[in-house]
Amino acid sequence: MLKEALGQVLNDEERALLSSSFDVIGDIAIIKIPDELHSKENLISENILARMKNVRTVLKQSSDVKGEFRTRELCFIGGKENYDTIYKEAGCLFRVNVKNVYFSPRLSTERERIASRVKDGEHILNMFAGIGTFSIIIAKKKQVQIESVDINPIAIELAQESLGLNKKLKGKVNPILSDALPYSLSHQNQFDRILMPLPERSLEFLPAAFRAAKDQGMIHCYVHVPTSNFEDNNWIVSELNRAELRNLRKAEVIEWKRVREVGPRYIQAVADIKVYS
Ligand SMILES: C[S@@+](CC[C@H](N)C(=O)[O-])C[C@H]1O[C@@H](n2cnc3c(N)ncnc32)[C@H](O)[C@@H]1O
Repeated sequence: MLKEALGQVLNDEERALLSSSFDVIGDIAIIKIPDELHSKENLISENILARMKNVRTVLKQSSDVKGEFRTRELCFIGGKENYDTIYKEAGCLFRVNVKNVYFSPRLSTERERIASRVKDGEHILNMFAGIGTFSIIIAKKKQVQIESVDINPIAIELAQESLGLNKKLKGKVNPILSDALPYSLSHQNQFDRILMPLPERSLEFLPAAFRAAKDQGMIHCYVHVPTSNFEDNNWIVSELNRAELRNLRKAEVIEWKRVREVGPRYIQAVADIKVYS
């Protein structure tokens, strides 16, 4: 859509350099613009502001997601300079600061899938909860208790604020500022379901999740893998066969699913893993 819209301001070669999609979070648009189009940034942002009436701010993403908090560098390029917004998903409202916390609207289908799997009465650990998007969407629909852990203090503050914006939740969400590793290790055999939405590192934390899960608990482990590993079903099975995991629990892969593309021949996938004591 963006490429078509920029037909009058960019030539074919310039348009080919531009990524075909960009994120809109509340009233903030975040777009990747290659260095070759630096001189066209103003034109691109004016075009977005003119066409998308809900957008008030245009930011350029100038780095990949990085660091412990998984944040990205953003430069203001048009509209009103602002990094705070309110995002709506699945009937819930979220306060987001796009500079200081990780947030992606591209996981909405996956959040919906997980919420549909949850049953009333579950005790859930969200190990890398960010601003609590998965947690609040699940609690909107189900009578559950969710420990929503993140190491970024701003993400935990925003989760608290979002809880104030969503009064009619069926379940209870506890935002907890902590490293998920010691937290999981000090809560063994406690959770019916564990979410691990830190795809770059979640395999490192899998032994701790195995310990924190109850017998027959379900773990949703997100990973980034080359497409070839994803297509080879044995890859995830052999990961679970690592001695440090095998010695802890019997585990079964219930589903091994593509979530989204994250790079050329690289995808985010999720393994739904059931563990038995
Ligand atoms: C990809 S984001 C999670 C996004 C979130 N689930 C959502 O849907 O918006 C990963 C999160 O893990 C957090 N994180 C990184 N290392 C952590 C750790 N050791 N313990 C707890 N949280 C951690 C980061 O601060 C970041 O918010």
